[in-house]
Amino acid sequence: MIRIWSRSLLNYLMKITGVYYKSPANFSYWWNFGFLSLYFLISQILTGIFLAMFYSADVGVVFGMVIDLNSEIYYGWWLRNIHANGASFFFMVVYLHMARGIYYGSFTFPRHVLWISGALIWVLMIATAFLGYVLPWGQMSFWGAMVITSLIGAIPGIGSDLLFLLWGGFAIDDVTLHRFYSLHFTLPFVILAITVIHFALLHEFGSNNGLGVNVKNDFIPFVPYYGVKDVFSIFVVLVLFFIFVMWSPDKLGHSDNFILANGLVTPAHIVPEWYFLPLYAILRSVTNKLLGIFLIACAIVCIFIAPYICKGYYIRSTFFRPLYCVAVWFFYFDCWLLAWIGGLPIISPYNHLGLFATVLYFVYFIIIFPGLNFFEKSIYSNYVYKNFIDNVKSPTAGVRVSGIDLSEFTFKAQSKFYYIKNFNV
Ligand code: HEM
Repeated sequence: MIRIWSRSLLNYLMKITGVYYKSPANFSYWWNFGFLSLYFLISQILTGIFLAMFYSADVGVVFGMVIDLNSEIYYGWWLRNIHANGASFFFMVVYLHMARGIYYGSFTFPRHVLWISGALIWVLMIATAFLGYVLPWGQMSFWGAMVITSLIGAIPGIGSDLLFLLWGGFAIDDVTLHRFYSLHFTLPFVILAITVIHFALLHEFGSNNGLGVNVKNDFIPFVPYYGVKDVFSIFVVLVLFFIFVMWSPDKLGHSDNFILANGLVTPAHIVPEWYFLPLYAILRSVTNKLLGIFLIACAIVCIFIAPYICKGYYIRSTFFRPLYCVAVWFFYFDCWLLAWIGGLPIISPYNHLGLFATVLYFVYFIIIFPGLNFFEKSIYSNYVYKNFIDNVKSPTAGVRVSGIDLSEFTFKAQSKFYYIKNFNV
């Protein structure tokens, strides 16, 4: 009886952990970033729990306490550096994960709800990282919190009341730090819960793949194939990660955060962490505060509604869509431009360039992506679809991949042919 129970429990555990998950056979390394995101989420939660054992959200002691953590507590410096750099790496892998989703059209139907769950995770990550950055109580922590929370004050009518409610007083102080600490501790668990939903949705609709077409029969089990590949990628990323943690732990931070927070001295140049820079550039692209908040909200909404704007195509990936491929690369460039401008002072020509990059960001979502979608579906469909179908009908289509004379094809064409035979179009 115990054996039957333990077997069915094991079976159940294997099912929910994805051991049996049927994965398309053509995943590239871009499909490793989901697992890497999970790794950094767990690492942040664990290191955060240990850091919380030494942290006290009291403005009188907090700054010195963080310094003590680095110098007086055994491996405190290690714990702190892993957590601080872990936040940057977490964002880095999640941004690459999102970029992959756009490039291969993973965000479109039928994975639109999966994408939206991811977008929710991203917004919660932004909130969590912002709250966490305030905790060391350095100059940049304080003034970063001041700049961002003051935005709420720009809401007409109720703005200042809301702001004082958030601050817990008339300035950012002890009460604010306490509530920020409490929320910073709680939100990662909400992210974890939504990540479970993210996985459930992934398993419900199945993974996309490099060609962006539906898989018919070419699956391989997640374990051991991609399990091993994911673990390997963690080791590779950890090498890079520990170069930062051990040798340049403050490289990604700001030197002003080594100065105790002082409400009377404003830093010469207030900049957020690198992962907020694109949104920060959008905020500063206009001089009106309220308009800036509105633009940030719209930029985030664009990510949420992307699957509805770019409804997708039966062929989703850039692999068969050269125009979409070019558009996506220019979109990445625009995001990079925004990040670059976000870190610079608002002077000419950067302010004009920032406005241009912001407008371009919205042009992508409002005009270019939907326009391309329409173009590909109607006028250009002859090229995309027929090009695709031609491969199926080509004289070589009857030959199985193992029987192909390799000298006749480029690797790309051959793999295209192989997957067309094995995937649903
Ligand atoms: C805590 C953060 C996150 C974790 C742990 C996570 C985890 C994962 C994992 C393990 C996968 C399957 C493997 C893969 O395709 O890479 C996946 C797929 C996916 N995720 Fe995430 N994810 C996170 C954030 C996001 C965000 C922010 C978005 C988008 C806004 C997103 C959108 C997607 C999509 C569309 C897929 C399906 C990809 C495909 O099949 O091609 N995820 N996620």
